[in-house]
Formats: sequence, structure tokens, C-alpha cells
Amino acid sequence: MHCSSTISILRSSTTTTLKTRFTAFPYISTRSHQRYIHSCRRFATIPTNTNTMPVPQPKADITAEVSGQENADRLFSISRDFRSDTITIPTDGQLLAALRASRGDDVYKEDATTTELEARVARLTGKEAAMFAVSGTMTNQLAIRTHMKQPPHSVITDYRAHVHKMEAGGIAMFSQATTHQLVPKNGRHLTVEDIEPALQLGDNIHIAPTRLISLENTLSGTILPQSDILEIAALAKKHDILLHLDGARIWNVAAVDIEQKRLDPHNEQDLQTVLTDLLAPFDTASLCLSKGLGAPIGSMLVGTKAFIDRARWFRKAFGGGIRQSGSITAMADYALTHHFPRLAGTHALAKRLAKGLEDAGCTILADVDTNMVFFDPTSAGLSMDSVVSALGSLQPVPITFMRERLVVHHQTSQHAVDEFVDTVQQLAQKANQGKTLKEKQQGESDVAEADLRKKAVLGY
Ligand SMILES: Cc1ncc(COP(=O)(O)O)c(C=O)c1O
Repeated sequence: MHCSSTISILRSSTTTTLKTRFTAFPYISTRSHQRYIHSCRRFATIPTNTNTMPVPQPKADITAEVSGQENADRLFSISRDFRSDTITIPTDGQLLAALRASRGDDVYKEDATTTELEARVARLTGKEAAMFAVSGTMTNQLAIRTHMKQPPHSVITDYRAHVHKMEAGGIAMFSQATTHQLVPKNGRHLTVEDIEPALQLGDNIHIAPTRLISLENTLSGTILPQSDILEIAALAKKHDILLHLDGARIWNVAAVDIEQKRLDPHNEQDLQTVLTDLLAPFDTASLCLSKGLGAPIGSMLVGTKAFIDRARWFRKAFGGGIRQSGSITAMADYALTHHFPRLAGTHALAKRLAKGLEDAGCTILADVDTNMVFFDPTSAGLSMDSVVSALGSLQPVPITFMRERLVVHHQTSQHAVDEFVDTVQQLAQKANQGKTLKEKQQGESDVAEADLRKKAVLGY
């Protein structure tokens, strides 16, 4: 990696305009250390409010000049990585924003960048207050712990819900609660029809009463229809049951809404209108910053002021209070401004991928509403192993993914999507050359089998 570096910040004496020239970030040798300290002194005179300070916009997400060749190369391999939307890497713009973040202690509530991000997310979601935490697991578990006062009590979730299935048994561990996991009758998402009969309302001492319903949107990339959410919310309200949303990917839903309503994804007010409507039925929501938005760390919890005040106690008890959190929240804030508008393009790429795979004879196992594609190649006469191996052998940089689930993110390239599809198409053509009628019929029965597997695949 290129190490020699200077950062010079020229501050005009008559205006507050900042001109920044980078050759790279400081890797600290003795001489560059002097220069680094000098530039830090200059930074110390800069106001901490990031909103008033335009962060210079590098030409590309990651440039060798700023971040070094190794990281520029890494961006290329990430553009071909379909494992998750959590694997995106911080951009030069994010790291520049981090450099300029406030350096206060957030446990003492003295970090301006963090407080500003919390205020921004509260405003965007139409809730009284917001709190930053390190992960979506933490904001979900904090929400559930804060809601659940005293056992015996129980939470209703979809059987695939992250809060139930993928958070290391946190509901039982931290909240001493039972989870009632439901399988949606429609094979896609929970509705009141599933939830109403499952509510534990009576005074039967054998059963832990339902105190909370926790929904997830998106779940496996599919959008939970707002009409169903409103019906579930009305049911919950009728029985004095709280409603939480694991909105790790609610940004994706908001991006779809914005596109459908022909609003502007760059306009904060439009995002506020859409997010506020989406979250209005919920008492609380967790919104991940490290998935579609591409922040390296973080998730927001939103709710009433009293709820967030209480959740701060639990965050401390979980060991989740962060001291100088500004550089982390500045990267998330930057991602919210600059990466949210990219989500519509991400979704378009996911649709392109699904269409290409379908044209190649694969079965698409779930609706492609946002950034995930679940596919089964057996209907194209291919085993999953052969597809994994062919894409994993591409040179000089392989395409990586986790079997049925393909996740598109804001750093996925169209070139990678097209190469994915081309490779599968070529494999399928080869595999089907000279096939007998009987073998083709076998292909059709594989489609039926794929359909049967649909339910099982839609998890994590
Ligand atoms: C739906 C959903 N909720 C919550 C989380 C937890 O997020 P984190 O990995 O930040 O703990 C994830 C992570 O993938 C997720 O997919």
C-alpha cells in the first residue's frame, strides 16, 4: 500500500470554504507525523457540525490516491461479491467524513456528530427519539428487552425472523421471553389471519401472554405489504400489545416507495414522508445502517423519548455505550446522504440478475421486490455445486455467493451481474445439449421440486 502522504487543509480567512488536497491518508512516519499533528490543529478550529461542512466528493468510491491500491482493488472484488449487503466497504468520502467528525464522548452525550445523526433519524422516521448502537442485533434485542417488563411473557414473530432465528437466542437470554414463531399461511408474509389465533390473551397460567409482535421488513428481500401491517397494528392496539419492526432493510422499502411515488431519493423531505408513513404503525423500529446504506458499523433504534431513554440504560448494561463515536456515526450519516439514493439502482440490478437467470432456465424462488434474488438452477439442468464452482473459478477475480441467496448491494457492478448471468447461461446450454425428451421431462419435474423447496429456502 502507498504510504507517503500529506493532507493539507487550506482555510480561507474570508470565507469558511474548505479546500482539501489529498495524496493519501497519513501513515505516520516521524516527518509525516509532524504534518499530521499540524493538520489536526487546523481541524481543531473547524466547527463540529458536519451539516455545515461540505465533505469533498472523491471522483470514485475508493481511489488509490486516497485509500491505497489495495483498497481500490478490494472494491473491485466486492463488486463481484453477492454474499450479503453487509460486505460493502467504506468509501473515501465516508472516511473523509469520519476524519472531520466531532470527537466528544457519547456516553456523556457530548458527541455532536452522533447526536445529530440521532436527531436526523428521529426526524426522518417521525419518531420522538433515536439511539445509535453498534449492530442490528443490538438494536433489536435492546428494543425487545426494553418492551418486555416482567416474565412470563412472549413475542410473536415469523418463523424466519432474524430476532428469533439469528440473534443467538437473545430473546430468551436477555428478555426471559418465549417466542411464538408462526409460519405464514400464504407462504410469503405474516397477516392478521396468522397472528390473531396465535395471540395469548387469557389468564391461562400455562401460557406466557403475548406482549409484543415483532415484524421484519424486508424479509428475504420481499416487502411486507403496508395494508397487512396496518391490520396487524390495529389488532395489536386492540389488545394492548406492542409492535416492533426489525427494519434492517426498511431503507430498501423506502427506496421502492419513493420510486413508485415518483419522489426524489436525494430529497430529505421525501424520504421523511415515506419513512414516517412506513413506521407509523410501529411503536419501535430498528434500522440498520450497515446493510443497504453501506455504513461499516451501526444501527438505529427509534421510538418515544421515554422508550429511548430507557433503552439507553440497557445499551449501557449490554456494554454498548461508545465513547468517541463520532467517526463511526459520521460514516453512517454520509452513507445515509450519499448511498440511500443508490438503492433504486441496486434493485434494478437485482431484477436484471433475476431476469437473466430465469432466461437461462433457473427458477426464481421468491419475488424480487428489492435487492435479493433466491434462485434454483436445477430447472436449468444444473446443480448448485456446478454453478458455485464455475463462478468461483472465474479469473482473475471470482464471483462469490452463498448458494440460493444472491444479494445485490450499492457496490455491485453491472458487469458482475452480466458475467454471472452469462456464465450460468453458457453452463445451461452446455448441460442441455443433446438431451433426450425424457431428460427434459426430468427438468420439468425439477421445477416442481424447486417450487416445493421454495418455503424452505426463504430463510437465512
Ligand atoms: C433482517 C436482519 N435483522 C437484523 C440483522 C442484524 O444485524 P447485525 O448484523 O448488524 O447485527 C440482520 C443481519 O443480517 C438482518 O438481516
